[in-house]
Amino acid sequence: MDYQKILNTIHEEMSYRDVKGKVASYIPELAKIDRKKFGMHVYCGDQQHFSFGDSNENFSIQSISKVFTLAMTMRIMGEDLWDRVDVEPSGDPFNSLTQLEYEHGIPRNPFINAGALVISDILVDQLHDPKQELLNFVRKITGDPNIHYDKRVAASEKATGYRNVALVNYIKALGNIKCDVEPIVDFYFHQCSLAMNCKDLAKAFMIFANKGRMLETGEKILKPKTVKRINALMQTCGFYDEAGEFSFQVGLPGKSGVGGGIVAIHPNNYSVAVWSPILNEKGNSELGMKALERFTTLTGVSVF
Ligand code: DON
Repeated sequence: MDYQKILNTIHEEMSYRDVKGKVASYIPELAKIDRKKFGMHVYCGDQQHFSFGDSNENFSIQSISKVFTLAMTMRIMGEDLWDRVDVEPSGDPFNSLTQLEYEHGIPRNPFINAGALVISDILVDQLHDPKQELLNFVRKITGDPNIHYDKRVAASEKATGYRNVALVNYIKALGNIKCDVEPIVDFYFHQCSLAMNCKDLAKAFMIFANKGRMLETGEKILKPKTVKRINALMQTCGFYDEAGEFSFQVGLPGKSGVGGGIVAIHPNNYSVAVWSPILNEKGNSELGMKALERFTTLTGVSVF
């Protein structure tokens, strides 16, 4: 497969001029991003790398971080996690509060904000220094010791994160949050502020394409069963109320963030990351979804 040729075709065919969406602005710091940015990186099972555009430029990974915190939590508590978070698509926006009332504070899945905040509660409760441990985890699976939180993005979200504070209070009132609200949202705002590029993300997500092992060293990071669960959740819940559309268009397990990043994997084959900050109405990268649709169409390969 000539991946570089396929990426070049996508780069030539597609432009920010073809999409109508807007850069996220409810987190003020994200509104400053140049809407022209567009990059893509493919990391293959034979350790080859292919890319175009702004693939080496850092951006705010936002909800993509929920896959890392889910992986860390499953390493700590395994299947017991499912007593506190369900595994069903929500069909609702990522920051919705409505289902929690009649589902007694059990979030529908770990990728909506409610589920990610219960996971933050678990990590704040279980780990001595959760922010440092998350950095250690991400640095290890990327092999990049320079990955950091973007403190300005974290502060910007903290200043405007009323819905997330409301979600934690609400879930706590319903009995599914143990710690104090402040450290939970502080950890959550930091995880969302992780600054990474497409190459870092493709490298990090290779563990989900490689049965839980680092490709370069063979080191086991996650059990194959954990990887099966996380990939199933990315397939069914990774794009919130657009999970069906992403599956339909692209046909890969993946995860998006409001910074405009999307990462997807093809088991035993490759991981791919794309970044364009222009979002569609559901909060997913408009050009990123189109680029991945072209990628699985031009390669003729998806999980289906
Ligand atoms: O909690 C929030 O609203 C953001 N920090 C993350 C949301 C997000 O990335 C949704 N994904 N597309």
